[in-house]
Amino acid sequence: MSQVTMTVNGKTATGDVEGRTLLVHFLRDELQLTGTHVGCDTSQCGACVVHVDGKAVKSCTMLAAEADGASVETIEAQAADDGTLNVVQQAFQDHHGLQCGFCTPGMVMSATALLKENPKPTEAEIRHYLEGNICRCTGYHNIVKSIMAASGQDVDSIAAEVAAQ
Ligand code: FES
Ligand code: FES
Repeated sequence: MSQVTMTVNGKTATGDVEGRTLLVHFLRDELQLTGTHVGCDTSQCGACVVHVDGKAVKSCTMLAAEADGASVETIEAQAADDGTLNVVQQAFQDHHGLQCGFCTPGMVMSATALLKENPKPTEAEIRHYLEGNICRCTGYHNIVKSIMAASGQDVDSIAAEVAAQ
């Protein structure tokens, strides 16, 4: 076991971890931040995406020890203290970007990272960025629409695309 210390959602978090402990398990099991989900064991689903030093990372692909000293943000820190959703969360709610919600924390964390890098992504850029996030429910259409809306862009063109299908 070794001790790790990191900043998680603005607070210092310390714990003893095994060398093989994944960041996602440290967050969920040690810190009880269970909003970060585990949807696969093959690093494919993206339900576990968090931000590490500002970058979107699949937390099942990183050892907790590798995050020692890092600043980690999870879905729990995305809404304001009074419960007000951030712009991406609100857009997912407004545009029905979720059904069962299992993938949603990872989707929101990926989308938030995308919009930091690229504040006005095209639909194609959103779809490309989300290639590492799998949703079993929505068919992605409303997720893409939500992210377009969160970036302040018109979503009518996307609606038209569906109407034409
Ligand atoms: S749990 Fe990390 S990619 Fe699926
Ligand atoms: S909303 Fe159910 S997996 Fe995406």
